[in-house]
Amino acid sequence: MHTFAKWLGVASMASLLAISAAQARDWNTIKTSGTMVVATEGAFAPFNYYEGTKLTGFEVDIAEAIVKQLGLKMEWKVVPFDAQIASLGQDRFDFAIASHGYTEERAKAVDFTDPHYCTGGQIAARKDGPLTVAALKGKTVGVQIGTSYLDNAKKIPGVKSVKTYKADPEAYAALKARKTDAWISDRWLIHETLQKNPEAGIVAGEHVFVERVSMILRKNNPELKEQLNRGLAEIMKNGTYQALSQKYFKTDASCK
Ligand code: ARG
Repeated sequence: MHTFAKWLGVASMASLLAISAAQARDWNTIKTSGTMVVATEGAFAPFNYYEGTKLTGFEVDIAEAIVKQLGLKMEWKVVPFDAQIASLGQDRFDFAIASHGYTEERAKAVDFTDPHYCTGGQIAARKDGPLTVAALKGKTVGVQIGTSYLDNAKKIPGVKSVKTYKADPEAYAALKARKTDAWISDRWLIHETLQKNPEAGIVAGEHVFVERVSMILRKNNPELKEQLNRGLAEIMKNGTYQALSQKYFKTDASCK
């Protein structure tokens, strides 16, 4: 019994070691397999979203162009935004493109490529609602969980409470339903949401912070990072990036 228990202990220790030793696929392994596995969320228009059953958006198109540039096929994995950094650590995909702004906190857990666009967080509220940072004093703000909007909303002095939602459409719905006084999200996402719903009586307010948005990949995978940066640089040089940026934003979204 004693020996068996010991053996069991050793066996589970060995399988634990095998799990933690599982390596993120390096560039050579990915290249040999012929397919890049990429995660996104699918609820963050115009960056990554569904048009019917089709995954689309600026980031979906950008990633497909980069992967094609690298000579590989593409496999999408749809993963909730707040689970992406943790699942990257479990090697369920090679990189994620889902509007991750660079933060020092995230950089402790994952690597960031060069940015594929620059943007900022913005307030939206009802016309007579709190449309500036100062006006948020004593108010309730809704944000998507796991985002830089949450971090920044928590820093605003005097905010009464910050409510979190699983995805941004729910944060917007909460504002419409008067469960919150304001919503903080990406400025382009807000622009598009308001344009599509002119009857909702929601307007865009002050910009709260700026951020550089990149693809994220598992740490210590320098070759993969280099290839993704090379692919991004290529599509920025050959006009693909500009065409997509004009299509989705009617302007150049790259970081200048
Ligand atoms: N840019 C924000 C951040 O870095 C929000 C990203 C949310 N992305 C998404 N696919 N919902 O946290």
